[in-house]
Amino acid sequence: MNARPQPETNVSSLPPFPEGWFFIATRDAVRKAGLMQRTWMGEEIVIWSDPAGQICVAKSVCPHLGSELGPEAGARVVGGRLVCPFHGFEFETSGQCVATPSGAPARSAKLDLVEVREIEGLIFGWWGLGGRPSQWHLPDVPQTEDDWTDLQIRTIRFAGHPQETSENSVDIAHLSCIHGYHNVTNDAPVSVDGPQLESRFSFSTTRKIAKFAKLTLDVSAIAHVVGLGYSFVEFQEHSIGLDARLWVLAAPVDGTLIDMSIVSRMRTLHEPKRPIIGLSFLPTRIRAPIVNKFIADLQIGEVKQDVVIWSHKHYVPRPRLVHTDGEIMKFREYCAQFYADERRCESSRP
Ligand code: FES
Ligand SMILES: [Fe+2]
Repeated sequence: MNARPQPETNVSSLPPFPEGWFFIATRDAVRKAGLMQRTWMGEEIVIWSDPAGQICVAKSVCPHLGSELGPEAGARVVGGRLVCPFHGFEFETSGQCVATPSGAPARSAKLDLVEVREIEGLIFGWWGLGGRPSQWHLPDVPQTEDDWTDLQIRTIRFAGHPQETSENSVDIAHLSCIHGYHNVTNDAPVSVDGPQLESRFSFSTTRKIAKFAKLTLDVSAIAHVVGLGYSFVEFQEHSIGLDARLWVLAAPVDGTLIDMSIVSRMRTLHEPKRPIIGLSFLPTRIRAPIVNKFIADLQIGEVKQDVVIWSHKHYVPRPRLVHTDGEIMKFREYCAQFYADERRCESSRP
C-alpha cells in the first residue's frame, strides 16, 4: 500500500520562540486590570503599573518560596506594590522586594523582570535567546498629530507561528488569492537592515459598505517588519485620501498558539477626494473614528481569512516558488537571525 505523501515538515519544526520584541498588552488594559497575568513566550508573566505610571512585567514566580503572582493565586497590587499571596512580600515596579510582614527583605529578593518597551501605549517585552538582554530596539513610529484617531485593537488566538504570519508581508501572491485584491504590485525590492525589513506594495480592493453599496480603495502600503512579533504598516489610500496606520503584532503564547493583535488608527478625513456613500453627512470629527472602526473590522476579517491557512499550513523549508511569489527566500534569510546558531546553519544549507 502506498503511504500518503508527507509534507517536508510542519509548523512545529520552526523553533517556537524566536528572539525579539513581542506584544504583551496595552497600557490602558493594564490600568483597567490592576494586575494582569498572561501566558507569553511559554512563560507565565504578571504586569502591573504603579501610580507614577511605571509598568512592571515580571515572571510570575515569587523569589521567596515560589508562589504564583497572578490574581488567580491571590496576588494583588496595593499602593503600586505587588503583594505575594503566600507570605505577603511586597515588590515595587523595579522588581525589588521592599517589605515583608516580618522584617527587612533580603536584597537579593527580586522579581525576574522582562525588559519592556512602550510605543503609543502598546507594551512590548524582550525575549532573548538563552535569556540574553535586548540586542536591538523597536524604532520610533512617526509622530501622532491631533488629527489621528485613538487606537482600535482586536486580538485573535490561533495555532500558528510568528514567522509564518510575518511571511505574508512579502507574500504578495496571496493578496489576490485569499483577500481578493487586484492590481497587486511590488513597489520596491524588499530591503533588509539588521532586524528591520521593509516591503512596499500597492493594490486595489473593493468592499461592500452597505447593503447595495461598494467602495473601491486604491492603496499603497509600506510594511516595516522589525523582528517576527512586530509589523508597522503605513497605508495611503489614493482615491479618497485616507491615511491609516496598522500594527500587526504576533506573540507566541505556549509554543503552539499565538495571539495576533491588529491595532489601527487613521487620520481625520477633512475633505474626501470623492464622496463616500453613507459617510458624507457625518461631521468630520466623528468620521475618522467610524472609518477607523470599519478598517479595524475589515482587517480582522482579512486576518481571519489568513488564519484558515496559517492554522493548518505546514512549514516548507525549501518551497517550490514561482516568479510571482515575491521575495520569500530573502525573508527567510532575514528570519534566521532570530534563532539560535543551529537554526542559522540549517537555513543557510543549500
Ligand atoms: S512565596 Fe511569596 S512571600 Fe513567600
Ligand atoms: Fe493576508
